[in-house]
Amino acid sequence: MHVTKPKLSWLEDPTVFAVNRLAAHSDHEFYSAKTGKNSLKQSLNGTWRVHLEPDIASQKLDFIDPDFDFGRFDYIQVPGHLQTQGFDGHKYVNTQYPWDGHEELRPPKLPKKNKIASYIKTFELDQALKDKPVHISFQGVATAFYVWLNGHFIGYSEDSFTPSDFDLTPYLVEGQNHLAVEVFKYSSASWIEDQDFWRLNGIFRDVFLYALPKAHLADIHVTANLADDYETGIFELKATVTGQTDDNFLHARLLDPDKRVAFETKVPLTQTLNLGQELSQVAPWSAELPNLYTLELTLEDKDGAVFEFVPEKAGFRRFEIQDGLMLLNGKRILFKGVNRHEFDPKLGRAITKEDMLWDIKFMKRHNINAVRTSHYPNQTLWYRLCDEYGIYLIDEANLESHGSWQKLGACEPSWNIPGNLPEWEPTCIDRANSMFERDKNHPSVLIWSLGNESYAGTDIAAMGDYLRHKDPTRIVHYEGVTWNREFDYITDIESRMYAKPHEIEEYLQNEPKKPYISCEYMHAMGNSVGGLDLYTKLEKYPHYQGGFIWDYIDQAIYQKLGDTTRLAYGGDFNDRPSDYEFCGDGLVFADRTISPKAQEVKHLYADIKIEPDETGVTLTNDGLFTNSADSYFTARVLQDGKVIFEKDYQLIVLPQESKHFDLELPLPETGEIIYEVQQHLAKDTAWAKAGFEINFGQTVIRQALPKFKAQGTPKVVMGDVNIGISGKDFEVLLSKDKGGLVSLKYSGQEFITRTPQLLFWRPMTDNDRGCGHGFERAMWLGAGKFAKVVDLQVTPKEHAVEVSYTYELPLPKQVTVQVTYLVDGTGKVNVNAKYPGHPDLPSLPTFGLEFKLPAKYDNMTYYGRGPVENYLDRKLGARLGTFTTTAKDSVAPYLVPQETGNHCDVRTLALTDDKEFGLKISADKHAFSASLLPYSTMMLEEALHQDELPPMRFAWLRLMADQMGVGGDDSWGAPVHEAYWLKADKPLELSFTLEPLN
Ligand code: GAL
Ligand code: MG
Repeated sequence: MHVTKPKLSWLEDPTVFAVNRLAAHSDHEFYSAKTGKNSLKQSLNGTWRVHLEPDIASQKLDFIDPDFDFGRFDYIQVPGHLQTQGFDGHKYVNTQYPWDGHEELRPPKLPKKNKIASYIKTFELDQALKDKPVHISFQGVATAFYVWLNGHFIGYSEDSFTPSDFDLTPYLVEGQNHLAVEVFKYSSASWIEDQDFWRLNGIFRDVFLYALPKAHLADIHVTANLADDYETGIFELKATVTGQTDDNFLHARLLDPDKRVAFETKVPLTQTLNLGQELSQVAPWSAELPNLYTLELTLEDKDGAVFEFVPEKAGFRRFEIQDGLMLLNGKRILFKGVNRHEFDPKLGRAITKEDMLWDIKFMKRHNINAVRTSHYPNQTLWYRLCDEYGIYLIDEANLESHGSWQKLGACEPSWNIPGNLPEWEPTCIDRANSMFERDKNHPSVLIWSLGNESYAGTDIAAMGDYLRHKDPTRIVHYEGVTWNREFDYITDIESRMYAKPHEIEEYLQNEPKKPYISCEYMHAMGNSVGGLDLYTKLEKYPHYQGGFIWDYIDQAIYQKLGDTTRLAYGGDFNDRPSDYEFCGDGLVFADRTISPKAQEVKHLYADIKIEPDETGVTLTNDGLFTNSADSYFTARVLQDGKVIFEKDYQLIVLPQESKHFDLELPLPETGEIIYEVQQHLAKDTAWAKAGFEINFGQTVIRQALPKFKAQGTPKVVMGDVNIGISGKDFEVLLSKDKGGLVSLKYSGQEFITRTPQLLFWRPMTDNDRGCGHGFERAMWLGAGKFAKVVDLQVTPKEHAVEVSYTYELPLPKQVTVQVTYLVDGTGKVNVNAKYPGHPDLPSLPTFGLEFKLPAKYDNMTYYGRGPVENYLDRKLGARLGTFTTTAKDSVAPYLVPQETGNHCDVRTLALTDDKEFGLKISADKHAFSASLLPYSTMMLEEALHQDELPPMRFAWLRLMADQMGVGGDDSWGAPVHEAYWLKADKPLELSFTLEPLN
């Protein structure tokens, strides 16, 4: 029934979510001719006019009058958000509803302050669309909208993330047409679109018109499955045809990946079509081998004249659960996944094709094979790219009512929606249906997800039933049943978020009934992703079928402050309430700079594991379908961090096979020897060039750390206040009252600005803040800063003088730390700092010394783990080698400044100025951890934004016996795993030698 009069009451009524909206349909492209040009589509993207009203009471516009004057309207770009174009303020909240504390509301009531954006677009129909029925498609409008054309009411729709199509035909006029769209910020739908994201609205995806030829493929449903032999393809096409079917024909052709015709038929057109064909020996689709067939559907009249052409891709694959395991094409699949929000720091969720291409290439380059479209259906193009590049998808319906059942972390579902409430069920089903109909033809979509964090009840159960009934070729996912196991049957997968490794293991070891995934794990907020291997180790359990890291990209928005632009987070726009930096949990920063966390993911997600040994290398191929023929392997030998041998090999390891290859690698007689084998792409791919490194493996074949040996005879001056030790081209002053080294001069150049400080604290990470680390370990914060010298000993040694300071720490327990400087006659200074251990203190964030050096020493070359920062629990993706960096480049720009720049297992490092003059620091007995930064620990600790940090005035060098891990299980309570703590009862020792470089 066509409704002609709009009603404002629809906004608040959960049972009204679509008025005059056309049936949801597949996202296929269609053209008027086979050339693929001459499109029947007309884009309405571009500049529109817009006017904002603060709330419903002030709303006076009447779109029934086609001639009303919109001269005073502003200009706006469509697609785009109102907030990113300055028409409304930014706001970020997580679970709480955005009106929390401002208005007391219960569903489905709306806040009084409900901004209304009235959009106008004037257009003339393109020639190709004239004299035909014309529909309009809005691909995404948040949150609810009404449409008029030339004064006639066209329709109303909700669901921000799926298309809404309407018929414009009766109201189109010759010449100028006036399209008016009234977009409401809030509707009843806002209660079920409570995702943890920036609250952005407006017409933020494409808008286009499309004309229907005399007959039109309104919907196509392509199924390309595999028979029980996993070789025979079962092709099926169901289509819904509108318009005139008589005397017209469908000509269907299916081309294989080599463009050979695999199937061809011509049938008379009918309103519903049903074709099928078995094909022997198809090339199956998978993320490893994204083989795509091309389906060409041509509508022709009896003389063979073409009036519609639909090109579509099909991927033959079979996805199923057998014996409790998810199988793709008969093989147990493993998701190496990420959650991905659509995000761009300038455009919000109105992301571009370039963004998507960047994202998918990043994923392929980092061995990520799966994406959960958290928490809504994405732009259509994303699915096409995933089909093409090979990414598995969990496609998630736009449903989240988090604030309706969880408050301050506690489960309180007394007014949960949709729950079992009948009035919310139809809109839930509609969301499932709109997603299914649009996305059903994409081979990349393996799993339907019913939404996120909406608790559980019969409404969500009904969505699941609906999708199972519509689509037997996929399975249904829903995590929310973990909060109410009565509804366990809703989900085909045991899916959890932020379950700890031991909890998952417990499930896996106790006769699991369903396959397991973590739909969210490894909370990548700030400096995180520690302990990822504790999860990937679970892959040995068949029922563990992977996980999806939370999440892919930081959600932070460019904000201009004076003449700088920064990446801003929640609260920075005076948005209150806000959940602040919690919007930044990405493997890449919001501007798509790759964060150091990605290094670990890439290594642990790689399909081929590489383990060199004395005689060669073992390759273990976890891939399901591909051998290593598309790669070549480079073996390298490092002697004391320098590459002394390099050779390429072709090594073939079959899928699911592990094999040892003998390689003849040199073994020099001196120095530390490391064997490394790298895997590289042999040929160009769509996502990287030949030579691109996919993974690596390293083994230390022989460890050899330098040991300090004093030489020469230093000159010693026992001053009243300073002990001076000097020789050719050097002078060292050790102070009796300043507690340590006050001068270190080589060739007349001073390296010390202030006495190096004992260091027990690291700038807290987001994970540290989230788990009460500060409360537990606060005593270490001042332990170095306020340590006091209680004893000083000067001891002449052979070829050297030893000056030893004993510090007492300001702790509730008595702890003394020794720092000893041993200066020899050649100017070498051997420094040794010893923490003795104490049974009764909290574990240490770190232990070492922090140096404040002149800013010019801001280049660092080190032999240790790199190239980017790494930590005790995040260093498997970092390799040993010689790398060069600078103080500035060592800062990972986490939204809130925090611990950064650490390198584990450093053997030597050199700090230089721009003339290559500088200091060499070598480990003595034990390797150490180090960072060179433009900021001190305390500066980083204090700042809340990167732009609060001052320009670089000094080069801050931290040398640490060790530093605790960064953790990552979650950012709201999970501690770093104990194995990566520095337990207080264990002694720690930092030992290194300073000398001039060269
Ligand atoms: C999950 C939620 C995500 C995000 C994450 C924390 O509970 O599904 O949307 O909020 O926590 O960053
Ligand atoms: Mg949430």
